[in-house]
Amino acid sequence: MSAEKNREALGFIYRRRSVRKFTDQPIPNEVIEQLIDAAIHAPSGKNQQNWHFVVVRNKQLIQDMVKLVEAKHEKLLPYIADAEKQKAFKGTVGYHTVFKNAPVVVLAFAGPYPGPSDDMVAGPGLTQQEIDEMKQTKPGVQNVAAAMQNLLLAAATLGYGTCWMTGPTYAGPEIAELVGFQKTGYSLAALTPLGVPAADGASPPRKPLAEVLTIVD
Ligand SMILES: Cc1cc2nc3c(=O)[nH]c(=O)nc-3n(C[C@H](O)[C@H](O)[C@H](O)COP(=O)(O)O)c2cc1C
Repeated sequence: MSAEKNREALGFIYRRRSVRKFTDQPIPNEVIEQLIDAAIHAPSGKNQQNWHFVVVRNKQLIQDMVKLVEAKHEKLLPYIADAEKQKAFKGTVGYHTVFKNAPVVVLAFAGPYPGPSDDMVAGPGLTQQEIDEMKQTKPGVQNVAAAMQNLLLAAATLGYGTCWMTGPTYAGPEIAELVGFQKTGYSLAALTPLGVPAADGASPPRKPLAEVLTIVD
């Protein structure tokens, strides 16, 4: 296939962008189910599928989630000792609540995914640093990230807007309690608003390929 044809076939990738403003147009249940079905067709390590999606369509609950994020943000602020970093964090609360005007919010919870490095013991043969480096790959979270990306691409393909968000996850336990989600070992990994975009927009530019690509022959 020519480069042009390839680009055309990959159009669904380039159509996705982060959307932070939405119309009031509701999303049919059938579409929500199709999108979550697309999400759960993502690959996962050992096919563990250690994800769970909670779809919130209740406007009041969405506003209550915003309040929980704002309250937790306020609570965490004094714990940042560095003044500059504290100032920067203070300015992020708007970035962590951009789901506030969406008709739907999808919460993505990650469940346990124990790997061999969880069972390794630091000692003369293996240092804690070596074990920590192995744990750094976090395959359990990668599984949920793959499902999130499927969800975002599927939504964009059907004309809906999303925004992958991890900012608000510091209020994960409070949000889980608010929506009544309880599953042992599961925590909020990310969320996304879902709705019809209120306006056109574009993604910010990417780093040049040469900066992020190394081909080894
Ligand atoms: C793991 C992750 C966390 C993100 N968290 C937030 C967030 O909390 N709030 C937000 O507005 N955008 C968030 N974003 C969206 C990024 O800002 C956005 O993807 C990036 O600027 C590139 O823009 P694009 O998605 O339009 O291509 C997040 C994206 C990822 C992948």
